[in-house]
Amino acid sequence: MNKKCLFLPGAAALVLFMAGVARAGDLDAATKARIAQFDSGPSTVDVSQYPQHIQDAYQVFSEKCSQCHKLSRPINSDFVLPDEWARYVKRMMYKPGSNISGSEAKDIYEFLVYDSSVRKKALLDQKLATLDPKQKSAEIAKIDAIRGKYGAPTPANFASSGN
Ligand code: HEC
Repeated sequence: MNKKCLFLPGAAALVLFMAGVARAGDLDAATKARIAQFDSGPSTVDVSQYPQHIQDAYQVFSEKCSQCHKLSRPINSDFVLPDEWARYVKRMMYKPGSNISGSEAKDIYEFLVYDSSVRKKALLDQKLATLDPKQKSAEIAKIDAIRGKYGAPTPANFASSGN
């Protein structure tokens, strides 16, 4: 075996590693396509029937979540579960320059969870049905806590509640 043979695997590993680094900030094609579809949908929510606190939280959401992309992106997103929103609000909050405080993040999270329980209820029911019973009741408890806190009826008549 000559020296070149020994060197090659190392070089190949390095190239793969660098490609991974370059891609990390970038999104794969499927994600890009999904996001483009969200961006092209409606960019406002009719919150006139929502509890007052949730209407106020919508103002915070509108201001903070439209700084880097259109508000239509989160509005038309297929995230609906409290866990999905908690993860994403954190992810967005930690992006450089997001300028979102802890209490604003909490308001935004509550708006997104409440709004998903009304406007995206069918998708929410569908996703809840895929969870194991323990996760499902944990997610429903988080939704009901927010709905209950602001005077909306609980449970939100989930097809799956009562389990
Ligand atoms: C500092 C810039 C910035 C701010 C502020 C921001 N976003 Fe984003 N958002 C991005 C970028 C960049 C992406 C592209 C995907 C990624 O990095 O997750 C994105 C993507 C998204 C997606 C699509 C993710 C997917 O894969 O489907 C959602 C939903 C979203 N943002 C919601 C929000 C919400 C809710 C807020 C307000 C709490 C917010 N964004 C505020 C930069 C931002």
